[in-house]
Amino acid sequence: MVMIEASILSADFARLGEQACEAEAAGVDAIQVDVMDGCFVPNITFGAGVVRALRPLVHVPLEIHFMIVEPERYLTEFADAGANRLIVHQETCAHLYRILQSIRELGIEAGVTLNPGTPLSAIEEVLDIVDLVQVMTVNPGFGGQSFIHGQLDKVRRLRQRLDELGQQNTPIAIDGGINTTTAPLVVNAGATIIIAGSSIYNDRASVAENVTALRASLTNR
Ligand code: DX5
Repeated sequence: MVMIEASILSADFARLGEQACEAEAAGVDAIQVDVMDGCFVPNITFGAGVVRALRPLVHVPLEIHFMIVEPERYLTEFADAGANRLIVHQETCAHLYRILQSIRELGIEAGVTLNPGTPLSAIEEVLDIVDLVQVMTVNPGFGGQSFIHGQLDKVRRLRQRLDELGQQNTPIAIDGGINTTTAPLVVNAGATIIIAGSSIYNDRASVAENVTALRASLTNR
C-alpha cells in the first residue's frame, strides 16, 4: 500500500489549518511540514508554532522535513509541538548518527533525506537506524519544481541496498515534483511513500479531487 503525504508548502498559508484538514479528509496518510531557514535553502517557512497549531486539528501524523542547518537545535521543540516524525538532511548533520539516535530517544520516528547531488554512500552507515529514507527528486527549497528523472535509478539502487541489508520494511519516500505522471514511476522504482505539494494544493482542482487523482494513478499498487 502506497502512502500519500500532503506537503503544506503549496497550501494557502492564510488558511493553513483548513487546508491541513482538507488533506486529511481527502485521505492522505500524513502531512509533511517543510521547515526552511533561508540558509540551507533559499526560502524561509514554518516554525514549531505552526506544528503546535496544526496538531489538534488533524489526527494523521505530522512529519517535519528539516531543510535547516544544525537541525539538532530544534528536535525537542518540534517533537514537543506534536511532530510524529523528524526527517533531517544528511548534508546538514555533522553528527548524523547521533542526531538520528536523538530523534528516536524522543520516542518518535527518524528519517534521513538527501539532495539529488548526494550519493547513497553518504547515508550507508545510518540505514540501520532510520525509520525511512526520503529521496529528493527536486533541489530543496520550493514547491512546484520539475521532477528530476535521473533520481529514479537512485531509488532503485536504494531499494536494492535496503533489501540486501534485510531492511525490506524500511520505506522509501519521494519528495519533489510528484504528480499523477511521476508517482507511478517512483513506485515502480521501489518507493512506498509519495509526498506531494503543488499537485495537491493548486487552483486546478480541489484538494479532494487532487488526492483522488494521485491515488487513482497508483491503482493496484
Ligand atoms: C522541497 C520541498 C518540496 C515539497 C513538495 O522544496 O520538500 O519538494 O515538499 O513540493 P512539490 O510537490 O510541489 O514539488
